[in-house]
Amino acid sequence: MEGYPEHLVISEHPVLRRFWYAVCFARDVTDAPVARTVLGTRLVVWRPTPGSPASAAHDLCAHRDAPLSRGWIRDCHLVCPYHGWEWDGAGRTRRIPQFPDAPHPTKSGLTMVLSQERYGLVWVCLDADPIAGVPPLPEYDDPRWRVVPEYRWDFACTAMHLLENNFDPGHVAFVHRNTFGNPDRPELTDTVVTREPYGLRTTGQVPVESRPGELGATVRTTVSKLYAPFHGHIHITYPDGLEHLMVKAITPVDDEHCMLLQTVLRTDGEAERPAADILAFDEKVEDEDRDLLESLPARFPLAPHLNAHARADRNSLAIRRLWLELVTGRWTPTW
Ligand code: FES
Ligand code: FE
Repeated sequence: MEGYPEHLVISEHPVLRRFWYAVCFARDVTDAPVARTVLGTRLVVWRPTPGSPASAAHDLCAHRDAPLSRGWIRDCHLVCPYHGWEWDGAGRTRRIPQFPDAPHPTKSGLTMVLSQERYGLVWVCLDADPIAGVPPLPEYDDPRWRVVPEYRWDFACTAMHLLENNFDPGHVAFVHRNTFGNPDRPELTDTVVTREPYGLRTTGQVPVESRPGELGATVRTTVSKLYAPFHGHIHITYPDGLEHLMVKAITPVDDEHCMLLQTVLRTDGEAERPAADILAFDEKVEDEDRDLLESLPARFPLAPHLNAHARADRNSLAIRRLWLELVTGRWTPTW
């Protein structure tokens, strides 16, 4: 098909710069600047004062190109580690210490990027004109749910590989055979996939061996939402009524790397299942996925003819179609 990229290479599609991506848990941005890379752009994230919102800028000093993430915070200002120039939280130059009374050069300010804090995370958007906001998560402020902030994990694979994996029921029995999957129970029921203004929604049932800290087989009913391009909400209900919502904020680092900032919300309490157990279990599960995903070829195949697809791959095919429409300008999400 004309205009159909065979592989999806993130840096070839500027539209991907127009989304919000999570870069840090808010609790991790304290008294020192943090380095992050999003879509190949190196960023510095810092909090000018303990109570203020985090700021984000290109991680490059206009003076002699030093990485500002190697600097520090002094009197509410970000300080460059090379010659000590200082900026405020809006990126305005506040001090050039060698001649403090001399005027500041016009190009001395930081190149800021949009940032905001939401749902315990710091988010950035590299484009001044975002397509949509941070994907909504009403459960975060709902007292029926408790929040378990989890981890930031780095993956040497594309954001597409990681997102697709999270919407792939067929891998559970095999990749997770040492945690909650059982290769002797791989059978699935069909998922029901619908396209939505924000991306897609898919429901299905997955047989699992247990859930954190428990033994015995069960079935989980999953309603998963994909907010384009790479953000997932995976809402699991167990037969006893327990609900478990995994928030998968996937951020493309560059064409071959991504990171995942995962938050879990649950309808049980700390006494029933301690957060420490959930964290330990999810760390094992994520290690299993990472081990497999990092062994795949680096480029993500978008064109259907590049792979074989079976009945269990409905989600994956729908996701590939969605990305194709997004990067070729045939579809723009809203929420
Ligand atoms: Fe940053 Fe000189 S390189 S102050
Ligand atoms: Fe997995």
